[in-house]
Amino acid sequence: MDHGGKVPYIEGQSIGVIAPGPDKKGETPAKIRLYSIASSAPGDDETNKTVSLVVKRVVEVAGRGWCEYSNVPKGKDLEFPDAEKVYRGVCSSHICDLNAGDDVLITGPVGAEMLLPEDPEANMIFMATGTGIAPFRSHLRNLFNDKVSKGKFRGCAWLFLGVPFSESLLYDEEWKEMQAEFPDQFRYDYAISNEEKSEKNKINGEMWVQHKMMQYSDDLWELVKDPKTHVYMCGLKGMESGFAECFQEKVEAEGLVYTEFLKQMKKEHRCPAAVS
Ligand code: FDA
Repeated sequence: MDHGGKVPYIEGQSIGVIAPGPDKKGETPAKIRLYSIASSAPGDDETNKTVSLVVKRVVEVAGRGWCEYSNVPKGKDLEFPDAEKVYRGVCSSHICDLNAGDDVLITGPVGAEMLLPEDPEANMIFMATGTGIAPFRSHLRNLFNDKVSKGKFRGCAWLFLGVPFSESLLYDEEWKEMQAEFPDQFRYDYAISNEEKSEKNKINGEMWVQHKMMQYSDDLWELVKDPKTHVYMCGLKGMESGFAECFQEKVEAEGLVYTEFLKQMKKEHRCPAAVS
């Protein structure tokens, strides 16, 4: 979206989008929905005038999952004309149905949870599921892509991205290009839950983000112990317990108590809670 330079933001922030509505209770315009910004401060075109989002269209269809409400008249949904009920997310549909040149009402930016540390030697572990990739794309473009900032970062960043199917991998090409250019500073791994198996997953054997991380747990533990390393999570809340699954044994092997170790990391602002 082109904001004409009127909405300057920094990496890790979100913006609000106001759809015309009607909203769930008939309100117009609809209430604000927040979206994590997926571009770095200069924008994808590096003009300081654009902001990019990665938005998942919310569609619930009775019979295919949970669908208590319907906001499309029966038989009128073009994609699911035979469905008993179809609920289409108010704001995500608005954004996904926009055409080039349309006006969009945005507010913000807001949020300080996902900002990067100022230390150029800090290390980052990014844990993302689905559209939770947005703030990390913003950071990674800042670290490894933008003319104004590229080359200043001295630490290392490691991205773990979880998606259900390989076709839902987001920005895969960008990560591969960054990896090729900065092999000593950027690592990228993904977990494709419906296509990869992990014997570490006692629930259903699928490969989730933490199970992929367990494959590198020795290297990761060295990083997590380092006071210069910050861990970020964005997407499914389950990543918080996933982090414990991955590191609890390591923590205890060093004679420490996991809850205390985590408390200390949070106190040092090295491990914010998962943001969805
Ligand atoms: P809408 O709000 O219409 O519906 C959401 C759900 O509400 C439905 O799935 C349904 O279960 C339920 N519902 C339906 N009718 C109802 C009724 N009458 N009463 C009660 N509940 C009802 N998303 C994204 O795609 N990309 C991103 O980067 C981000 N980033 C982000 C950051 C932060 C900080 C937050 C808090 C959230 C996000 N989100 C996001 C999520 C985004 O803000 C938003 O919630 C989703 O796009 C869904 O909004 P809709 O208006 O499309 O669904």
